[in-house]
Amino acid sequence: MAKIAPSILSADFVNLERDIRALGDNGADFVHVDVMDGIFVPNITIGIPVVAAIRKITDLPLDVHLMIDRPVRYVEDFVKAGADYLTIHIEADQPQNTLEALDKIHALGCRAGIVLKPKTPAEAAIPYLEKCDMILVMTVEPGFGGQKFMADMMPKVAQLREWMDDINPDCMIEVDGGVDSVTHATCKEAGAEVLVAGSAYFKAEDKAEFAKLIQS
Ligand code: DX5
Ligand code: ZN
Repeated sequence: MAKIAPSILSADFVNLERDIRALGDNGADFVHVDVMDGIFVPNITIGIPVVAAIRKITDLPLDVHLMIDRPVRYVEDFVKAGADYLTIHIEADQPQNTLEALDKIHALGCRAGIVLKPKTPAEAAIPYLEKCDMILVMTVEPGFGGQKFMADMMPKVAQLREWMDDINPDCMIEVDGGVDSVTHATCKEAGAEVLVAGSAYFKAEDKAEFAKLIQS
């Protein structure tokens, strides 16, 4: 059993409202929103006003993945725009600022989480574990949809799940990048509970069936 968080990075932005409404109809558990600033990652996507607009048209929880430099500067804006889960990269700032950002997110009544790039080891997450409702393990280099799944991230997923079983069993482990109708199984075996899928979800002929497969 897992949850699916379709990434709207692969949606049709001209028809974003239609595609987001369809997520609910197709049984998605979250809307995964990829925010990129052109500095932390070499791509620029969507920002605060778009998150606020999405908030108005769906009751699904918004899982907002910030791929931005020094996210502590903007977490308040994203929570106010309607994020339900706000995840920040631990590589994007000094540890004390990352801790401050997680506290700020919680103080605003939102769930908080950290994200690890592929080259970041599980151990780097240790200072933050007690403050996490979600830990996102990247299974591609952040920046673009449609890349190849990195199966060698699975030991990291399993290690984080094991630590969180002791510290906070309610914390969810999420994977993001290259999840499809084949790779989903290995993610779940490793202990991931939330699977982000961008291109595979939006390319699927029967999106409700695809969602069910990921959730199975
Ligand atoms: C990449 C993003 C992902 C991406 C996933 O930086 O964080 O959410 O949209 O896309 P797929 O599923 O196509 O790899
Ligand atoms: Zn993402």
